[in-house]
Amino acid sequence: MTERAGAALVTGASRGIGAAIARALARDGWPVGVNYRSEAERAGGVVDEIERTGGQAVALAGDVADPSTPDQLFEALESRFDRPVLVLVNNAGINRDDLTPSLRDEQWDAVIDTDLTAAFRLTRRALRPMLRARSGRIVNISSVVALRANPGQANYAAAKAGLIALTKTAAVEVARRGVTVNAVAPGWIDTEMTAGVASDLLAAVPARRAGTPEEVASCVRFLASDEASYVTGAVLTVDGGLSA
Ligand SMILES: NC(=O)c1ccc[n+]([C@@H]2O[C@H](COP(=O)([O-])OP(=O)(O)OC[C@H]3O[C@@H](n4cnc5c(N)ncnc54)[C@H](OP(=O)(O)O)[C@@H]3O)[C@@H](O)[C@H]2O)c1
Repeated sequence: MTERAGAALVTGASRGIGAAIARALARDGWPVGVNYRSEAERAGGVVDEIERTGGQAVALAGDVADPSTPDQLFEALESRFDRPVLVLVNNAGINRDDLTPSLRDEQWDAVIDTDLTAAFRLTRRALRPMLRARSGRIVNISSVVALRANPGQANYAAAKAGLIALTKTAAVEVARRGVTVNAVAPGWIDTEMTAGVASDLLAAVPARRAGTPEEVASCVRFLASDEASYVTGAVLTVDGGLSA
């Protein structure tokens, strides 16, 4: 496999969709930064698995909602692999659900800070080396609820819809410089985030099943690849037909 000129950073990669994305990018030859907030052991497990299968990875602690985190993550990853970060996947996300009349300011702020503002700060930081290299891929993990209402998720939907607007705007700003910015909007994916959600909701999914983290990761892997060089500002739904 040809050696990559850059490294890839995946936020929130200690489990679920982020871990699957980290593994998929590593299989494509990217040295990967596996960011996590609290689960050092699980992030270490993802790194071990990548290394066992011949890839390169490093676990990087950091709460993406902290404004100082982007610089720390980029500096650590760049110095570990001695190359610029040329792929950024903004995957870290939380939900704090409640119906709008009951939604507290803390629930609103926590979700906007982690799911939207952090992605903006990381994107801003990532664009510096990418524009310099005239090469880069940013993939933002949005959600189908940005496109189709889901009661109880006003904060989460607003953050994920904002992420699509950020994606499209940044995409057109940098398109001339060889950098693409896209969003993936998963539907119901089987992870800890959706554990305990009533399975009768699956009746609304045309595919009649939840998706897997690997099914999301394969789309991210494509958007990060050379083959996707003319795809930018796009939103790829991975939802078993839910939003069709
Ligand atoms: N699962 C779905 O059905 C679904 C559908 C649509 C979109 N999504 C989106 O896909 C992404 C991944 O979801 P998932 O289902 O894999 O979730 P998950 O299983 O809950 O995993 C979330 C990951 O994000 C990390 N994280 C959370 N807050 C963080 C922070 N402030 N800084 C750094 N890392 C942080 C978590 O690490 P710690 O545990 O260490 O905090 C964990 O590794 C999210 O953006 C989510 O909104 C998921």
